[in-house]
Amino acid sequence: MARVVLNQITKTFQNQKVVKGIDLMVPDGSFTVLVGPSGCGKSTTLRMIAGLETVSSGEILIGDQLVNDLAPGKRDIAMVFQNYALYPTMSVYDNIAYGLRNRGTSKKECQMLVEEIAEIVGLTPYLKRKPSQLSGGQRQRVALARAMVKKPKVFLMDEPLSNLDAKLRNQMRVELTSLHKQLGSTFIYVTHDQVEAMTMGDQIVVMSEGDIMQVAAPLELYQEPANLFVAQFIGSPAMNIVSDDEKSKSVWGFRPEKAQLVTDAVSAAPTQDMLTLPGKVISREILGSDCLCHVETEKGRIVVKVDTERAVNIGTNVHVTVPETQIYEFDRATGKRIIRTEGMQAHAMAGGVV
Ligand SMILES: Nc1ncnc2c1ncn2[C@@H]1O[C@H](COP(=O)(O)OP(=O)(O)O)[C@@H](O)[C@H]1O
Ligand SMILES: [Mg+2]
Repeated sequence: MARVVLNQITKTFQNQKVVKGIDLMVPDGSFTVLVGPSGCGKSTTLRMIAGLETVSSGEILIGDQLVNDLAPGKRDIAMVFQNYALYPTMSVYDNIAYGLRNRGTSKKECQMLVEEIAEIVGLTPYLKRKPSQLSGGQRQRVALARAMVKKPKVFLMDEPLSNLDAKLRNQMRVELTSLHKQLGSTFIYVTHDQVEAMTMGDQIVVMSEGDIMQVAAPLELYQEPANLFVAQFIGSPAMNIVSDDEKSKSVWGFRPEKAQLVTDAVSAAPTQDMLTLPGKVISREILGSDCLCHVETEKGRIVVKVDTERAVNIGTNVHVTVPETQIYEFDRATGKRIIRTEGMQAHAMAGGVV
Protein backbone atom coordinates (compact mmCIF):
# COMPACT_ATOMS: atom_id res chain seq x y z
CA MET A 1 0.00 0.00 0.00
CA ALA A 2 1.13 3.50 -0.65
CA ARG A 3 0.04 7.06 -0.93
CA VAL A 4 0.56 8.99 -4.15
CA VAL A 5 1.67 12.60 -4.22
CA LEU A 6 1.72 14.99 -7.17
CA ASN A 7 3.75 18.18 -6.81
CA GLN A 8 3.17 20.90 -9.41
CA ILE A 9 2.66 18.42 -12.24
CA THR A 10 2.37 19.83 -15.74
CA LYS A 11 2.00 18.21 -19.13
CA THR A 12 2.48 19.98 -22.42
CA PHE A 13 1.55 18.43 -25.76
CA GLN A 14 2.74 20.35 -28.83
CA ASN A 15 3.02 23.66 -26.95
CA GLN A 16 -0.39 23.18 -25.38
CA LYS A 17 -0.48 22.83 -21.60
CA VAL A 18 -3.14 20.20 -20.86
CA VAL A 19 -2.22 19.71 -17.16
CA LYS A 20 -1.41 23.02 -15.56
CA GLY A 21 0.62 22.44 -12.41
CA ILE A 22 -1.52 20.32 -10.13
CA ASP A 23 -0.87 19.42 -6.49
CA LEU A 24 -2.61 16.36 -5.14
CA MET A 25 -2.29 13.99 -2.22
CA VAL A 26 -3.91 10.59 -2.64
CA PRO A 27 -3.99 9.04 0.86
CA ASP A 28 -2.82 5.48 1.36
CA GLY A 29 -5.77 3.12 1.00
CA SER A 30 -8.16 5.76 -0.33
CA PHE A 31 -10.55 5.40 -3.25
CA THR A 32 -9.73 8.63 -5.05
CA VAL A 33 -11.74 9.57 -8.12
CA LEU A 34 -10.61 12.05 -10.78
CA VAL A 35 -13.74 13.46 -12.39
CA GLY A 36 -14.37 16.19 -14.93
CA PRO A 37 -15.63 16.80 -18.46
CA SER A 38 -14.04 15.11 -21.44
CA GLY A 39 -10.65 16.59 -22.34
CA CYS A 40 -9.91 18.11 -18.91
CA GLY A 41 -6.74 16.04 -18.44
CA LYS A 42 -7.88 13.09 -16.29
CA SER A 43 -6.37 10.33 -18.44
CA THR A 44 -3.17 12.27 -19.00
CA THR A 45 -2.79 12.69 -15.23
CA LEU A 46 -3.43 8.98 -14.62
CA ARG A 47 -1.04 7.98 -17.40
CA MET A 48 1.69 10.15 -15.86
CA ILE A 49 1.18 8.37 -12.51
CA ALA A 50 1.39 5.04 -14.36
CA GLY A 51 4.54 6.11 -16.20
CA LEU A 52 2.90 5.71 -19.61
CA GLU A 53 3.40 9.42 -20.19
CA THR A 54 6.39 11.50 -19.04
CA VAL A 55 5.77 14.60 -16.94
CA SER A 56 6.73 17.96 -18.46
CA SER A 57 7.56 19.28 -15.00
CA GLY A 58 6.87 18.52 -11.36
CA GLU A 59 7.27 15.46 -9.16
CA ILE A 60 5.32 12.24 -8.67
CA LEU A 61 5.87 10.16 -5.54
CA ILE A 62 4.47 6.70 -4.92
CA GLY A 63 5.01 5.75 -1.32
CA ASP A 64 8.08 7.81 -0.50
CA GLN A 65 9.75 7.13 -3.81
CA LEU A 66 10.19 9.71 -6.54
CA VAL A 67 9.05 7.82 -9.65
CA ASN A 68 9.50 10.45 -12.39
CA ASP A 69 12.18 8.39 -14.12
CA LEU A 70 10.94 4.95 -13.15
CA ALA A 71 9.57 2.62 -15.87
CA PRO A 72 5.87 1.63 -15.50
CA GLY A 73 6.80 -1.95 -14.61
CA LYS A 74 8.91 -0.74 -11.67
CA ARG A 75 6.26 1.50 -10.09
CA ASP A 76 4.32 -1.23 -8.32
CA ILE A 77 1.06 -0.13 -9.92
CA ALA A 78 -1.55 -1.88 -12.04
CA MET A 79 -3.72 -0.19 -14.58
CA VAL A 80 -7.19 -1.21 -15.82
CA PHE A 81 -8.49 0.50 -18.94
CA GLN A 82 -11.85 0.99 -20.57
CA ASN A 83 -10.80 -1.24 -23.45
CA TYR A 84 -9.28 -4.11 -21.54
CA ALA A 85 -7.84 -6.62 -23.99
CA LEU A 86 -8.01 -10.24 -22.87
CA TYR A 87 -6.16 -12.93 -24.81
CA PRO A 88 -9.01 -14.65 -26.67
CA THR A 89 -7.30 -18.02 -27.11
CA MET A 90 -6.22 -18.32 -23.47
CA SER A 91 -8.39 -19.60 -20.63
CA VAL A 92 -9.48 -17.27 -17.83
CA TYR A 93 -6.84 -18.91 -15.63
CA ASP A 94 -4.06 -18.21 -18.14
CA ASN A 95 -5.25 -14.67 -18.73
CA ILE A 96 -4.98 -13.96 -15.01
CA ALA A 97 -1.67 -15.79 -14.63
CA TYR A 98 -0.08 -14.14 -17.66
CA GLY A 99 1.49 -11.19 -15.84
CA LEU A 100 2.88 -13.44 -13.12
CA ARG A 101 4.53 -15.85 -15.56
CA ASN A 102 6.27 -12.86 -17.15
CA ARG A 103 7.67 -12.11 -13.73
CA GLY A 104 9.05 -15.60 -13.30
CA THR A 105 6.78 -16.58 -10.40
CA SER A 106 6.91 -20.34 -9.67
CA LYS A 107 4.08 -22.50 -10.98
CA LYS A 108 2.88 -23.39 -7.49
CA GLU A 109 2.85 -19.83 -6.23
CA CYS A 110 1.17 -18.74 -9.42
CA GLN A 111 -1.64 -21.25 -8.91
CA MET A 112 -2.11 -20.14 -5.32
CA LEU A 113 -2.33 -16.47 -6.28
CA VAL A 114 -4.68 -17.00 -9.22
CA GLU A 115 -7.03 -19.12 -7.12
CA GLU A 116 -7.03 -16.60 -4.29
CA ILE A 117 -7.86 -13.69 -6.59
CA ALA A 118 -10.42 -15.70 -8.59
CA GLU A 119 -12.23 -16.40 -5.33
CA ILE A 120 -12.25 -12.70 -4.40
CA VAL A 121 -13.73 -11.56 -7.73
CA GLY A 122 -16.07 -14.56 -8.04
CA LEU A 123 -14.43 -16.22 -11.05
CA THR A 124 -13.59 -19.59 -9.52
CA PRO A 125 -16.24 -21.51 -11.53
CA TYR A 126 -15.05 -19.94 -14.80
CA LEU A 127 -11.29 -20.48 -14.71
CA LYS A 128 -11.31 -23.00 -17.58
CA ARG A 129 -13.48 -20.92 -19.89
CA LYS A 130 -12.36 -18.74 -22.78
CA PRO A 131 -13.19 -15.00 -22.68
CA SER A 132 -15.77 -15.48 -25.47
CA GLN A 133 -17.76 -17.72 -23.12
CA LEU A 134 -18.11 -14.99 -20.48
CA SER A 135 -20.52 -12.08 -20.01
CA GLY A 136 -19.27 -8.49 -20.23
CA GLY A 137 -19.15 -8.17 -16.45
CA GLN A 138 -17.23 -11.40 -16.06
CA ARG A 139 -14.70 -10.27 -18.67
CA GLN A 140 -14.28 -7.03 -16.80
CA ARG A 141 -13.60 -9.06 -13.66
CA VAL A 142 -10.90 -11.04 -15.48
CA ALA A 143 -9.24 -7.75 -16.41
CA LEU A 144 -9.40 -6.70 -12.75
CA ALA A 145 -8.11 -10.05 -11.54
CA ARG A 146 -5.19 -9.80 -13.93
CA ALA A 147 -4.28 -6.46 -12.34
CA MET A 148 -4.91 -7.69 -8.79
CA VAL A 149 -2.86 -10.84 -9.01
CA LYS A 150 0.34 -8.79 -9.07
CA LYS A 151 -0.67 -7.31 -5.70
CA PRO A 152 0.23 -3.76 -6.67
CA LYS A 153 0.38 -0.94 -4.14
CA VAL A 154 -1.79 1.26 -6.32
CA PHE A 155 -4.59 0.48 -8.78
CA LEU A 156 -5.13 2.94 -11.58
CA MET A 157 -8.41 2.69 -13.47
CA ASP A 158 -9.44 4.74 -16.47
CA GLU A 159 -13.21 4.59 -17.07
CA PRO A 160 -13.17 0.80 -16.62
CA LEU A 161 -16.97 0.50 -16.65
CA SER A 162 -17.91 2.73 -19.55
CA ASN A 163 -18.32 -0.14 -22.03
CA LEU A 164 -20.85 -1.94 -19.84
CA ASP A 165 -24.62 -1.48 -19.96
CA ALA A 166 -26.28 0.61 -17.24
CA LYS A 167 -27.41 -2.27 -15.04
CA LEU A 168 -24.09 -4.07 -15.10
CA ARG A 169 -22.27 -0.81 -14.52
CA ASN A 170 -24.25 -0.26 -11.31
CA GLN A 171 -23.48 -3.77 -10.16
CA MET A 172 -19.77 -3.40 -10.94
CA ARG A 173 -19.64 -0.10 -9.03
CA VAL A 174 -20.77 -1.91 -5.92
CA GLU A 175 -18.37 -4.77 -6.59
CA LEU A 176 -15.43 -2.43 -7.10
CA THR A 177 -16.06 -0.49 -3.90
CA SER A 178 -16.35 -3.66 -1.85
CA LEU A 179 -13.24 -5.00 -3.56
CA HIS A 180 -11.43 -1.85 -2.55
CA LYS A 181 -12.47 -2.36 1.07
CA GLN A 182 -11.34 -5.97 0.95
CA LEU A 183 -7.93 -5.21 -0.56
CA GLY A 184 -7.23 -2.01 1.33
CA SER A 185 -5.02 -0.80 -1.55
CA THR A 186 -4.96 2.70 -2.95
CA PHE A 187 -7.34 3.16 -5.90
CA ILE A 188 -7.17 6.05 -8.34
CA TYR A 189 -10.19 5.96 -10.59
CA VAL A 190 -10.98 8.18 -13.58
CA THR A 191 -14.50 8.90 -14.79
CA HIS A 192 -16.40 11.71 -16.52
CA ASP A 193 -19.57 10.59 -14.72
CA GLN A 194 -20.27 12.59 -11.57
CA VAL A 195 -22.75 10.01 -10.26
CA GLU A 196 -20.10 7.30 -10.54
CA ALA A 197 -17.63 9.59 -8.77
CA MET A 198 -20.06 10.43 -5.97
CA THR A 199 -21.10 6.83 -5.35
CA MET A 200 -17.64 5.27 -5.45
CA GLY A 201 -15.07 7.76 -4.22
CA ASP A 202 -14.09 8.64 -0.68
CA GLN A 203 -11.96 11.48 -2.04
CA ILE A 204 -13.10 13.23 -5.22
CA VAL A 205 -10.88 15.42 -7.35
CA VAL A 206 -12.89 17.65 -9.68
CA MET A 207 -10.89 18.78 -12.71
CA SER A 208 -11.55 21.34 -15.41
CA GLU A 209 -9.25 22.41 -18.24
CA GLY A 210 -6.10 20.90 -16.75
CA ASP A 211 -6.63 22.31 -13.27
CA ILE A 212 -8.02 20.94 -10.03
CA MET A 213 -11.20 22.77 -9.02
CA GLN A 214 -11.73 21.09 -5.63
CA VAL A 215 -10.69 18.02 -3.65
CA ALA A 216 -13.21 16.79 -1.09
CA ALA A 217 -15.38 13.95 0.16
CA PRO A 218 -18.61 13.41 -1.85
CA LEU A 219 -21.03 15.04 0.54
CA GLU A 220 -18.76 18.00 1.12
CA LEU A 221 -18.53 18.61 -2.64
CA TYR A 222 -22.29 18.59 -2.86
CA GLN A 223 -22.91 20.74 0.20
CA GLU A 224 -19.91 23.03 0.11
CA PRO A 225 -18.83 23.53 -3.51
CA ALA A 226 -15.80 25.82 -3.62
CA ASN A 227 -16.79 27.45 -6.89
CA LEU A 228 -19.41 27.73 -9.60
CA PHE A 229 -17.83 24.99 -11.69
CA VAL A 230 -18.10 22.36 -8.93
CA ALA A 231 -21.56 23.61 -7.94
CA GLN A 232 -22.85 22.99 -11.45
CA PHE A 233 -20.86 19.85 -12.24
CA ILE A 234 -21.81 17.90 -9.11
CA GLY A 235 -25.49 17.09 -8.60
CA SER A 236 -28.19 16.22 -11.11
CA PRO A 237 -30.04 18.19 -12.34
CA ALA A 238 -27.46 20.96 -12.03
CA MET A 239 -27.72 23.74 -9.47
CA ASN A 240 -29.93 26.66 -10.58
CA ILE A 241 -27.98 29.87 -11.04
CA VAL A 242 -29.73 33.23 -11.01
CA SER A 243 -28.46 36.77 -11.04
CA ASP A 244 -29.85 40.19 -10.57
CA ASP A 245 -28.37 41.85 -13.61
CA GLU A 246 -25.19 41.70 -15.66
CA LYS A 247 -23.57 44.37 -13.52
CA SER A 248 -23.95 42.73 -10.11
CA LYS A 249 -20.79 41.23 -8.64
CA SER A 250 -22.44 38.04 -7.41
CA VAL A 251 -24.57 35.27 -8.81
CA TRP A 252 -26.77 33.01 -6.68
CA GLY A 253 -27.36 29.31 -6.76
CA PHE A 254 -29.71 26.77 -5.24
CA ARG A 255 -30.26 23.09 -5.80
CA PRO A 256 -33.45 21.91 -7.60
CA GLU A 257 -34.33 19.64 -4.66
CA LYS A 258 -34.05 22.44 -2.09
CA ALA A 259 -36.68 24.63 -3.74
CA GLN A 260 -40.46 24.33 -3.46
CA LEU A 261 -43.36 25.29 -5.67
CA VAL A 262 -46.22 27.13 -4.00
CA THR A 263 -49.47 28.13 -5.63
CA ASP A 264 -51.29 29.96 -2.82
CA ALA A 265 -50.62 33.61 -2.11
CA VAL A 266 -50.05 33.16 1.64
CA SER A 267 -47.17 30.73 1.29
CA ALA A 268 -45.74 32.84 -1.50
CA ALA A 269 -45.66 36.07 0.55
CA PRO A 270 -42.02 37.18 0.74
CA THR A 271 -40.31 36.64 4.07
CA GLN A 272 -36.87 37.62 5.20
CA ASP A 273 -35.41 34.14 5.27
CA MET A 274 -36.95 32.89 2.04
CA LEU A 275 -36.16 33.67 -1.57
CA THR A 276 -39.37 33.91 -3.62
CA LEU A 277 -39.49 33.99 -7.41
CA PRO A 278 -42.79 34.22 -9.32
CA GLY A 279 -43.04 32.20 -12.53
CA LYS A 280 -44.96 29.77 -14.66
CA VAL A 281 -44.49 26.01 -15.06
CA ILE A 282 -43.57 25.40 -18.70
CA SER A 283 -42.72 21.70 -18.71
CA ARG A 284 -42.44 18.66 -16.47
CA GLU A 285 -40.39 15.48 -16.46
CA ILE A 286 -41.81 12.71 -14.31
CA LEU A 287 -38.92 10.48 -13.25
CA GLY A 288 -40.92 8.15 -11.01
CA SER A 289 -41.13 9.24 -7.40
CA ASP A 290 -39.62 12.61 -8.33
CA CYS A 291 -40.74 15.14 -10.88
CA LEU A 292 -38.68 17.94 -12.42
CA CYS A 293 -40.75 21.08 -12.98
CA HIS A 294 -39.27 23.70 -15.30
CA VAL A 295 -40.38 27.16 -14.32
CA GLU A 296 -39.97 30.30 -16.41
CA THR A 297 -39.21 33.24 -14.11
CA GLU A 298 -38.03 36.77 -14.66
CA LYS A 299 -34.58 35.59 -13.56
CA GLY A 300 -34.53 32.85 -16.17
CA ARG A 301 -35.49 29.21 -16.27
CA ILE A 302 -35.44 27.33 -12.95
CA VAL A 303 -35.67 23.59 -12.36
CA VAL A 304 -37.43 22.42 -9.21
CA LYS A 305 -37.43 18.80 -8.11
CA VAL A 306 -40.57 17.83 -6.21
CA ASP A 307 -42.37 14.65 -5.15
CA THR A 308 -44.44 13.51 -8.12
CA GLU A 309 -47.59 13.66 -5.99
CA ARG A 310 -46.91 17.36 -5.52
CA ALA A 311 -46.12 18.12 -9.18
CA VAL A 312 -47.86 21.17 -10.61
CA ASN A 313 -49.60 21.19 -13.99
CA ILE A 314 -48.02 22.87 -16.99
CA GLY A 315 -49.24 26.44 -17.36
CA THR A 316 -49.78 26.99 -13.63
CA ASN A 317 -48.59 30.24 -12.12
CA VAL A 318 -46.37 29.44 -9.15
CA HIS A 319 -43.84 30.89 -6.77
CA VAL A 320 -40.50 29.15 -6.40
CA THR A 321 -39.44 29.45 -2.77
CA VAL A 322 -36.00 28.62 -1.41
CA PRO A 323 -34.85 28.90 2.22
CA GLU A 324 -32.10 31.44 2.54
CA THR A 325 -29.87 28.82 4.17
CA GLN A 326 -29.95 26.83 0.92
CA ILE A 327 -28.66 29.67 -1.21
CA TYR A 328 -25.06 29.85 -2.40
CA GLU A 329 -23.34 33.00 -3.50
CA PHE A 330 -20.53 33.10 -6.08
CA ASP A 331 -18.28 35.83 -7.36
CA ARG A 332 -19.36 36.42 -10.95
CA ALA A 333 -15.86 37.26 -12.19
CA THR A 334 -13.85 34.45 -10.54
CA GLY A 335 -16.62 31.89 -9.91
CA LYS A 336 -15.37 31.52 -6.33
CA ARG A 337 -17.88 30.82 -3.60
CA ILE A 338 -18.51 33.70 -1.23
CA ILE A 339 -19.31 32.68 2.31
CA ARG A 340 -21.00 35.28 4.49
CA THR A 341 -22.07 35.19 8.08
CA GLU A 342 -25.83 34.71 8.49
CA GLY A 343 -26.82 38.33 8.92
CA MET A 344 -24.72 39.38 5.99
CA GLN A 345 -26.30 36.75 3.79
CA ALA A 346 -29.81 38.04 4.44
CA HIS A 347 -28.62 41.55 3.76
CA ALA A 348 -26.86 40.64 0.53
CA MET A 349 -29.80 38.63 -0.67
CA ALA A 350 -32.23 41.42 -0.03
CA GLY A 351 -30.22 43.52 -2.48
CA GLY A 352 -29.79 40.57 -4.78
CA VAL A 353 -32.53 38.34 -6.03
CA VAL A 354 -35.59 38.88 -3.84
N1 LIG B 1 -0.84 12.18 -27.03
C1 LIG B 1 -1.46 13.38 -27.11
N2 LIG B 1 -1.05 14.31 -28.00
C2 LIG B 1 -1.64 15.53 -28.06
N3 LIG B 1 -2.67 15.92 -27.29
C3 LIG B 1 -3.14 15.04 -26.39
C4 LIG B 1 -2.56 13.73 -26.25
N4 LIG B 1 -3.24 13.09 -25.27
C5 LIG B 1 -4.18 13.93 -24.82
N5 LIG B 1 -4.12 15.10 -25.49
C6 LIG B 1 -4.98 16.28 -25.26
O1 LIG B 1 -4.88 16.60 -23.89
C7 LIG B 1 -6.13 17.02 -23.37
C8 LIG B 1 -6.51 16.18 -22.18
O2 LIG B 1 -6.77 14.85 -22.62
P1 LIG B 1 -7.16 13.68 -21.65
O3 LIG B 1 -6.19 13.63 -20.53
O4 LIG B 1 -7.30 12.45 -22.47
O5 LIG B 1 -8.58 14.15 -21.12
P2 LIG B 1 -9.72 13.33 -20.35
O6 LIG B 1 -9.19 11.98 -20.01
O7 LIG B 1 -10.05 14.18 -19.18
O8 LIG B 1 -10.88 13.27 -21.31
C9 LIG B 1 -7.11 16.94 -24.53
O9 LIG B 1 -7.24 18.21 -25.09
C10 LIG B 1 -6.44 15.98 -25.48
O10 LIG B 1 -6.83 16.27 -26.80
MG1 LIG C 1 -9.89 10.06 -20.62
